[in-house]
Amino acid sequence: MVTQKIISVRDVEPEDLPIIHEIAEESFKDPYPLSLLKHIYETKPEGFMAAEIGGEIVGYLIGLVRWSDVGHILAIAVDELHREKGVGSALLINAIDRLKNNGANRIRLEVRVSNEIAQEFYGKIGFKPRKVVPAYYSDGEDAVSMEYKCK
Ligand SMILES: CC(C)(COP(=O)(O)OP(=O)(O)OC[C@H]1O[C@@H](n2cnc3c(N)ncnc32)[C@H](O)[C@@H]1OP(=O)(O)O)[C@@H](O)C(=O)NCCC(=O)NCCS
Repeated sequence: MVTQKIISVRDVEPEDLPIIHEIAEESFKDPYPLSLLKHIYETKPEGFMAAEIGGEIVGYLIGLVRWSDVGHILAIAVDELHREKGVGSALLINAIDRLKNNGANRIRLEVRVSNEIAQEFYGKIGFKPRKVVPAYYSDGEDAVSMEYKCK
């Protein structure tokens, strides 16, 4: 029998931040500290989204509109045990919708040049590489800046 787990995407509550921070720590070389996550959340709670499977948070995304019409994805990560099940896509598609509704006509993000999985993931949704940003990360790695044009 094939069991399909339902993915839901919802707003983030303050008590979700520690689990979001755990997912960030296992996912990134340079995760935002919990204090920074809390600070961004206090300023822009509407920028945070969580994905759940069976009532458990398995992924999150932070996306904000800057300069009135440019959306920016600051972070997206899925718990290692729940990757490649469509969770990341569910988060990113919901975020694109929300950013568009909040005035974005294009959405940008930066991704490590070595992170081919994420570049493939963003490409599948419709993001295109824009330029390389030299030494964008604190360890000196370059970033690929990618952009999605909202229709
Ligand atoms: C990038 C990330 C968020 C993708 O989340 P996910 O839930 O695994 O992605 P999805 O299951 O929605 O995958 C959608 C598409 O992305 C691509 N993709 C995802 N994982 C992949 C992998 N391991 N290898 C190759 N392509 C992959 C595929 O094209 C996939 O489509 P398919 O299912 O039809 O093959 C997840 O791998 C992650 O958390 N990585 C660590 C954190 C990170 O790198 N974040 C991005 C920083 S800029």
